[in-house]
Amino acid sequence: MSSTDQNQTVASEATPEAAPETEPTPVNHESEALDSPSSQSSGWAIFMFFMIGFVGSMLSGWILFPELLYSKKQQPIDFNHAVHLDMVYDGCESCHYFRDDGSFAGMPNMGDCIDCHEEAQTDDPEEIKFVDEYVTPGIEVPWLNHSKQPDCVFFSHSAHVIGADMSCESCHGDIGTSEHTREYQENKLTGYSRDIWGHSISRLGKPEPGEPLPMKMNDCAKCHKEETGHKGACFQCHK
Ligand code: HEC
Ligand code: HEC
Ligand code: HEC
Ligand code: HEC
Ligand code: HEC
Repeated sequence: MSSTDQNQTVASEATPEAAPETEPTPVNHESEALDSPSSQSSGWAIFMFFMIGFVGSMLSGWILFPELLYSKKQQPIDFNHAVHLDMVYDGCESCHYFRDDGSFAGMPNMGDCIDCHEEAQTDDPEEIKFVDEYVTPGIEVPWLNHSKQPDCVFFSHSAHVIGADMSCESCHGDIGTSEHTREYQENKLTGYSRDIWGHSISRLGKPEPGEPLPMKMNDCAKCHKEETGHKGACFQCHK
């Protein structure tokens, strides 16, 4: 829809511009070469008209479309992974651990933070906000989950991390060592995080090193095919 709109504005702008170019030609060369210069310049006008429309629709596809499709949110608190990683004893496991039954704790909750943040230790505004708005009143931080899959999908961290010995980075990129939380982008049509589709609209090529892997159904299945030789039955991933 947006590209049609743009073509229309282009059309109404381009016509008056093209007209003065074509008008003088017949006056100057009346006796000679009948219509060749004017047809040449109208050829140019058509070409330019096409190019402006083409570039316009490319720009709207690559820039405007994602702008319209995704709404943006910030995490409630700008959490610094890197600074914490230096202070905890068990690395990632200090906050993202496996319970005895093999289930994965996922996002940390207040219990993982309270020992160090009963009171603010610095005058960092993010820490003060964390303590005043969440720790003291006893409210869990509503972290946004960039990787959240639809409810019908079954994903097991232990099958991948413990079973297949995969690193966190191989799927999540370098968020574990980041200094700031990343903007969360939500697909307005599906309600899912942009990370599921991946940040490349065309899905061509591989994600940059450090970026999370896209996690559409085919992405899971493709890796399973490579690792195990088969894509797996539907019920492997669907409850
Ligand atoms: C001190 C606690 C702490 C430690 C240690 C920690 N994290 Fe986190 N992690 C968090 C918090 C809080 C969040 C939620 C805020 C955010 O997204 O940054 C989070 C979020 C994440 C997410 C985002 C999930 C998503 O998709 O939204 C990933 C992935 C992650 N951590 C990986 C790691 C890795 C890998 C390490 C080790 C290198 C690590 N974390 C160490 C506290 C911790
Ligand atoms: C081992 C102790 C420890 C644990 C556990 C811990 N923190 Fe911290 N945190 C600190 C210290 C110390 C600082 C101050 C670091 C600095 O600025 O030098 C800090 C700083 C912060 C800040 C301000 C700096 C920033 O931008 O991140 C926030 C917000 C924060 N912590 C949130 C959390 C949350 C949420 C958790 C639980 C998931 C958590 N912390 C767990 C010790 C801890
Ligand atoms: C095979 C790829 C893969 C690996 C390896 C992996 N994750 Fe995940 N992670 C996912 C997927 C997919 C989800 C979304 C699961 C869902 O929503 O059901 C997720 C979700 C999360 C979340 C959000 C909370 C939750 O439980 O949904 C955190 C935090 C997280 N992972 C941290 C880690 C850490 C830390 C490691 C390393 C110990 C790790 N992940 C290894 C793919 C992976
Ligand atoms: C980068 C590679 C990779 C990606 C991406 C990946 N997986 Fe896996 N997955 C594996 C490997 C390796 C195993 C272990 C296979 C085995 O043990 O036979 C596995 C095992 C599993 C299992 C357990 C199978 C069983 O019966 O024990 C489930 C369920 C699963 N994956 C679901 C998913 C889902 C859902 C996604 C996408 C959201 C996903 N995986 C993405 C590599 C991957
Ligand atoms: C390797 C894991 C895996 C296998 C095997 C798998 N799926 Fe999926 N499926 C997913 C994931 C992850 C999603 C969510 C992401 C997406 O929309 O692509 C999904 C989404 C879907 C959806 C859309 C649901 C929604 O709410 O958006 C349907 C329908 C579906 N799968 C059907 C199937 C059928 C039928 C099979 C067997 C032929 C199958 N899947 C096998 C991982 C898997």
